[in-house]
Amino acid sequence: LESMNITITEDKSLPKAHKIKIRDVSKDIDKRVQLNGWIHRLRVQKNRAFIVLRDGTGYIQCLLKGDLANAYQTSQLTLESTISISGTIEKLPEGKTAPGGVELLADFYQVYGLAPAGDDSITNKVQENADASLLLDQRHLMLRGETLSAVMKVRAAFLKAIRTVYVEEGLTEVTPPCMVQTQVEGGSTLFSLKYYGEDAYLTQSSQLYLETCLPALGDVYCIQESFRAEKSHTRRHLSEYTHIEAELCFLDFNDLLSHIETLIVKSIDYVLKDPIAGPLVKQLNPSFVAPQLPFKRLEYKDAIKWLNENGILNEDGEDFKFGDDIAEAAERKMTDTIGVPILLTRFPVEIKSFYMKKCSDDPRVTESVDVLMPTVGEITGGSMRIDSVEELLAGFKREKISPEAYYWFIDQRKYGTSPHGGYGLGTERILAWLCNRFTVRDCSLYPRFTGRCKP
Ligand code: 4AD
Repeated sequence: LESMNITITEDKSLPKAHKIKIRDVSKDIDKRVQLNGWIHRLRVQKNRAFIVLRDGTGYIQCLLKGDLANAYQTSQLTLESTISISGTIEKLPEGKTAPGGVELLADFYQVYGLAPAGDDSITNKVQENADASLLLDQRHLMLRGETLSAVMKVRAAFLKAIRTVYVEEGLTEVTPPCMVQTQVEGGSTLFSLKYYGEDAYLTQSSQLYLETCLPALGDVYCIQESFRAEKSHTRRHLSEYTHIEAELCFLDFNDLLSHIETLIVKSIDYVLKDPIAGPLVKQLNPSFVAPQLPFKRLEYKDAIKWLNENGILNEDGEDFKFGDDIAEAAERKMTDTIGVPILLTRFPVEIKSFYMKKCSDDPRVTESVDVLMPTVGEITGGSMRIDSVEELLAGFKREKISPEAYYWFIDQRKYGTSPHGGYGLGTERILAWLCNRFTVRDCSLYPRFTGRCKP
């Protein structure tokens, strides 16, 4: 009852509190500031209340004393309510710990929006042990958690790092269309749609468009959503993912391999050096070891031998033979056992796409590569491309694809063909490895996979 009478008012004689973000608090020690954010944690006692405030740039503990703690308004606070809070930033005394090593000694606060308590409270909606699918329904609230938001920050730093490396390597960014009328990686995973009465698809890969840019812009890259109607429900397949793709000309297969490993090593290095993302990677994946150049190279035929020597069987439960696809489980067992990044090369023609160039010393295999990482397996797929019209048309024929819709892609080989190659890197896959997440779903803002298209 006593608390009912306490109203919270600002003492106008105090110095004006200037508005700052939590990431900047250490610049304002002993100054009066105003912070705005969400109540991340809350403990209200007599004479003392503790609020951990979150604003997307960081976390800070706010201490409310005396009347401020005892006021009725404070007793009504809930997790995820938004407040504007003013006070003095203080260095923590010896022996006390809190995020950033500082604390806000509050003298005033106002509520913007009170979040519900009771049955509708956030803790009831996103219980850690709840069914995964229920939590995915609450993805918009789950994103506020420390883990998911940390992964999203690492993701942002990684995409920034990738762009930095591409700039350093002289590639130009382009944005190819998402609505297309051609397939790249097999008809069975195409999402189709009606486009003003015509048949069209959501893009599986921007590769073919990137190839057409080479004579105009030189080496190019894009960071674009790709779509796959995957039937399989695995921890590394999404229906929509952020595809980092590049295409380079006048290079050979070895140049392509060195480009790919350099890109990965440099971009990871930038993420680890990033002042925000570096510590988050440490927190999410304490035993992460940065990859070193050069990556281990392994030819498909030697991988087959390795699998058989190590008693790993193919999908039919038999020994692997030349020509078998190395499916997810076997690939991961091999990669985890070897324990370092692998460039797996020279796959047989039959198990790879129509556009891949054959090796000049062995026409059974292609100048192709998958990059395999421990714990996830394949994160990148790439190859040198067929650069002769006749050979490309034979590839279409082999895969029973009618070439009409590809006239523009075929023209690429007519009007000044060139040796060229490229690759696609799955953003969520490399993040699953970097952030030690069990599934790529944890690395996507709003994951789409079989049966899920919400929120
Ligand atoms: O191996 P993929 O299918 O290769 C291509 O699409 C080429 N056309 C790319 C190119 O050469 N420009 O896919 C490339 C990468 C894979 O290594 C994987 O990391 C990711 O894209 N990926 C997926 N990620 C999440 N969910 C899926 N369903 C994925 N399918 C492929």
